[in-house]
Amino acid sequence: EKVLMNNSLINRDEASFSFDDRSMYFGDGVYEVIRVYSGYPYKLEMHLQRLQRSAEELDITYSNSQKQSLKSAIQELLSENELVEDGFVYIQVSRGAAVRDHLYERNIEPISFAFTKEMAIPEQTQDEGAVVYLSEDIRWLRCDIKTVNLLGNIMAKRQAADHDCEEAILHRGETVTEGSSSNIFIVKDGHLQTHPADNLILNGITRRVVIDFAEEQGLSVNYTPFTIDEALEADEAFITSTINEVTPIREWRGTRHGTTNIGPITKQLQNMMREDIA
Ligand code: PDD
Repeated sequence: EKVLMNNSLINRDEASFSFDDRSMYFGDGVYEVIRVYSGYPYKLEMHLQRLQRSAEELDITYSNSQKQSLKSAIQELLSENELVEDGFVYIQVSRGAAVRDHLYERNIEPISFAFTKEMAIPEQTQDEGAVVYLSEDIRWLRCDIKTVNLLGNIMAKRQAADHDCEEAILHRGETVTEGSSSNIFIVKDGHLQTHPADNLILNGITRRVVIDFAEEQGLSVNYTPFTIDEALEADEAFITSTINEVTPIREWRGTRHGTTNIGPITKQLQNMMREDIA
């Protein structure tokens, strides 16, 4: 099996990392997860643009030419690994390696790596709906940057799993922001509602794709943040992510408890996504 190190193909067991990589000391790096359907990366360009934006926001040097060469390297990686089924590509770009110092210098070279993995579409959860765990959003105030610093996310995910929930839904006070690794939408009286793409959430690629589908259907999308109570009282609720696509929420635990029916708008958006992928 091959992986990419700085956009070059190498054997996985030959990949090595610097002891001084800043992503290990400080979580000083950015990443992307891209879905692969029947061997083809879905919305690759959008993911690479977001990777570049995340890097730029952290003052990590990431040029258009690095992005272009990563794009073709990913295609090579997929064919080299003979990933012809469903799966994903993980890409990470670290600021680089330097003796530990909070202060970074601008002349260090970023280090990137990528791997592929087969992974089936989680159709059962998509059909039956997910049980989610409401928990306080303790993350920093730049959740729009896709950094490898994910402590608030992974702690919430563990807490959710400990309560037999598939995803944690985060809220700042009464305001619902997003999932620990997904965005969240609710449906009320035929209208969609989701948190605005500001500094408190990651502007998901799947979120944007679903918004496009909704608009195609003439459904309006309201970008006003909603409360926990509004979520529980919604007609439908669903999460979106690269890995889970569109997954309905059927039960809430944690901060509050409740159930939600799986509804027609969620089903319609799910089907539109399935058709887009096929
Ligand atoms: N996570 N919000 C957060 C905090 C996320 O980590 C993710 C994705 C999303 C959804 O974004 P997208 O639709 O672009 O996947 C929203 C990925 C899948 C991960 O960390 O594995």
